[in-house]
Amino acid sequence: MSFSKEMYIQAACEVAKIPQPTKALRKLLEETLADPGSVIGAISLGDEEEIMLYEDDSLSLWFCRFNPDVVMPPHEHKMTVHIGVLSGGEKNIMYRRENNELKHIKTKVVHSGEILTLGPDGIHAVTADGDKPSYALHIYEEPLMQVKRSLFDWDSGEKVEFTMENFYAMTRPSDGFAA
Ligand SMILES: [Fe+2]
Repeated sequence: MSFSKEMYIQAACEVAKIPQPTKALRKLLEETLADPGSVIGAISLGDEEEIMLYEDDSLSLWFCRFNPDVVMPPHEHKMTVHIGVLSGGEKNIMYRRENNELKHIKTKVVHSGEILTLGPDGIHAVTADGDKPSYALHIYEEPLMQVKRSLFDWDSGEKVEFTMENFYAMTRPSDGFAA
């Protein structure tokens, strides 16, 4: 069956109501990734790099594109997130914060059809692997837009208030970026 944004939102809301919905949200995402073309075709990003499809007190649903020439800065979510990739490869550069400094832990490329779940302590920088943009659905298990969270300075590891302005100002070109 082809993807319908309304039905996806409805299904995710139903799942988010159950206690400990993590597994069931992953399953819904897995099923949705089975027909990636119909998801990408049904959602228009316009000029945006990411759009929120829906949010309430129990979850936040996003559609995101990352480009291979730019790396989005390290940030936290303070909640569990499921990253399901529809097309291309989403490169997640993962960090841990130790004594206020960012330590690179590992880099994981999530390929089309795969899901990466990050816990509430997860910190990542993100870009697209290879030479094409990546497209993904992100399911956050809490209302992302209602939570105060931080970006982290690339060099000092210091917290920076998460605003979209700071987010885009702190991007780095992927040329010469090693991680
Ligand atoms: Fe993120």
